[in-house]
Amino acid sequence: MGARIRPLRELAGFMDKFVIRGGNPLVGSIRVSGAKNSALACMAAPILTDEEVILENIPQVRDIETERKLLAAMGAEVELGYGRAQHRTTINCRALTKPVAEYEIVKTMRASALVLGPLVARSGWARVSMPGGCAIGARPIDQHIKGLEKMGVTIAQEHGYLVARTERLKGAHIVFDLITVTGTEDLLMAAVLAEGETIMENCAREPEVTDLATLLAAMGAKIEGAGTSTMRVQGVTRLHGARHRINPDRIEAGTLLAAGAITGGDLTVTNCNVAHLGAPIAKLQEMGVRVEVLGSDSVRVRGDGALHAADISTEEYPGFPTDMQGQFMALATQAEGVSLIKENIFENRFMHVQELVRMGANIKIDSRTAARVHGPAKLSAAAVMCSDLRASASLVLAALVADGESILDRVYHMDRGYERIEEKLRGVGAQIRRMGNIFAPRDVEMVAR
Ligand code: EPU
Repeated sequence: MGARIRPLRELAGFMDKFVIRGGNPLVGSIRVSGAKNSALACMAAPILTDEEVILENIPQVRDIETERKLLAAMGAEVELGYGRAQHRTTINCRALTKPVAEYEIVKTMRASALVLGPLVARSGWARVSMPGGCAIGARPIDQHIKGLEKMGVTIAQEHGYLVARTERLKGAHIVFDLITVTGTEDLLMAAVLAEGETIMENCAREPEVTDLATLLAAMGAKIEGAGTSTMRVQGVTRLHGARHRINPDRIEAGTLLAAGAITGGDLTVTNCNVAHLGAPIAKLQEMGVRVEVLGSDSVRVRGDGALHAADISTEEYPGFPTDMQGQFMALATQAEGVSLIKENIFENRFMHVQELVRMGANIKIDSRTAARVHGPAKLSAAAVMCSDLRASASLVLAALVADGESILDRVYHMDRGYERIEEKLRGVGAQIRRMGNIFAPRDVEMVAR
């Protein structure tokens, strides 16, 4: 069997490492990029129309490039305009000839399940690879399937793919068994073109859902209740093009605030939406970090006082986000006392723990979803492995305060969701550099979900 040769372009960045020397307080200001998870949902919405949709404030991260590939493989024209002030993407799905999401693309990004609803709404059928398990947990998509079936879609499983068909999508009364972000987004995109009214209960209230609903409304959809747990959608027969600006990334903002605090710095995070940061800001304050809200889009943190332990329990929005659990666990290693961290959204999201422990953290795992952090611990630099996107962010934060030079391997996980993070951190005084290695082993697969 012939060896598979990947283009150099694809390998570039794949085996990169970060070299971080800890000890510098972060001082200055950092601008937050557009929200990856909003952008991923909003990039699926143009499937619903044959007119052009322009999205601004798109972050320049690997997951967005993956979604571009996914759409392009279906026949969409997608232009990613980086380098311009707006980070704009123009998507035209006029010639959507192949409503298929191939395994080769889906396996690298679970958000691909987001195209199931819009594809079946647009084309009457879709063939979407099942996403499979992922590092942070099983992450099934039964709620997407159940909801679509209620709307009149027949779904069969064939050769690892879901094959969905419908004559006409019908409005339905859907009650989610659990709160799911992309599940809510997927069904919302189907409902906007369904015949009649769809009522969805127990919806996710995350700002990313609201962002998508705002875009869909600009395209002509009729949606009430976005941002609450009950949404009502009156289906329309067609949607048109629109222009929309993606929300700032609240997870990047929270990560940076924690970075300012853990380094004992004085950091201002700009271009964020403070209204989306209630839970992390309250937790920082509880831990003794001085937080000053400078306006609706900027926050300053000063980590010059002692940090106190605080318990963290992840919840759906507006609770404390699972996507910041690892970063705040790193912060808790520097706080006086015992912090109990409970992960309630995903069953396997403590992969940063063993690496933090290797750096000197004192963390005891009570169960797969509960850990106790005893602080403060003096962290010492080590070679560590990034296992998923937010675990990488946790390790970057730990390395910023560790004594000596840490080497973080597999930073391609970080590149999935943080735009130019090393440049941003360097700009406020961090000693961080990227060490490239394009001579990657040929058979290494990029599993980035
Ligand atoms: N779940 C089911 N069945 C479903 C859908 C979800 O059992 O049909 C379960 C999941 O297994 C999980 C829980 O419900 O235990 C919540 O999952 P959810 O569907 O809300 O997660 P998601 O939509 O797959 C999005 C973000 C994640 C973020 C979670 C929770 C995107 C593209 N991804 O995932 O972001 O952690 O919501 O807020 O929006 C990240 O950015 O690092 C990331 C993982």
